Amino acid sequence: MSIQGKPRIVTTHVLNEMKLRGEKIAMLTAYDFSMARIVDQAGIDVILVGDSASNVMAGHKSTLPITLDQMIYHAQSVVRAAKRALVVVDMPFGAYQGNSKEALVSAIRIMKETGAQAIKMEGGEEILESVHRILSAGIPVMGHLGLTPQSIHKFGTYVVRARKEEEAQKLVKDAKLLEETGCFGIVLEKIPAKLAGEVARNAKIPMIGIGAGNQVDGQVLVIHDLLGITQDFSPRFLRRYHNLFAEISGSVEAYLTDVKEERFPNEKEQY
Ligand code: KIV
Repeated sequence: MSIQGKPRIVTTHVLNEMKLRGEKIAMLTAYDFSMARIVDQAGIDVILVGDSASNVMAGHKSTLPITLDQMIYHAQSVVRAAKRALVVVDMPFGAYQGNSKEALVSAIRIMKETGAQAIKMEGGEEILESVHRILSAGIPVMGHLGLTPQSIHKFGTYVVRARKEEEAQKLVKDAKLLEETGCFGIVLEKIPAKLAGEVARNAKIPMIGIGAGNQVDGQVLVIHDLLGITQDFSPRFLRRYHNLFAEISGSVEAYLTDVKEERFPNEKEQY
């Protein structure tokens, strides 16, 4: 059910209509069944099975190590839970940069083996041939521009992107190219709000921001950051809605004490 109490299945067309009527799109990551069920039932429009799973689920320092098989595993769990949200799955590093045929094979695996509705890829002009080939197979593609974490070793840092005119111009051009090729939406990560707003106003497809200000068509966050499960990541754009790290630690410590002091289980908690 949606937040208004009506069942609503979110499709890429629904996202387009939302942009047309100025309704903001809310997107969040999820990587497992239990979290995806909560996110879906809360009414989130798009669930992203992000390759940020590499960081928050597997503990890697970057998104580079996660494999296509691992992304498929996470996506299968999320799809089992998502009854109304659109599920978008990140194509992981190494699954599409080789050539467009390899990219198509990876995208087909994701769609066939997970039941998700779309994939996301990082990059602009340089991945256009792959985007085109995947779209030609009937697979919806979401773009990702600005700070693209799979290229972190090229950038060398996670600072705000496209502050300089040349990079901003490339981003504007890439967004246009992705839209013209047929992407249904684009994630804009960590770029100046003014630039993101310009890109969003000039596009017919939704621009979803993360660290891209409030003039875009929607927002995305990593759920572990929003819930305060991650503690060592505090960029300016992040709003923590909870301190789940502290809550979980408190519960674990209480359980630990109860077990040690023989307060758990009590009389009523046994057979
Ligand atoms: O992998 C991810 O979580 C993402 C978001 C940061 C947009 O790509």
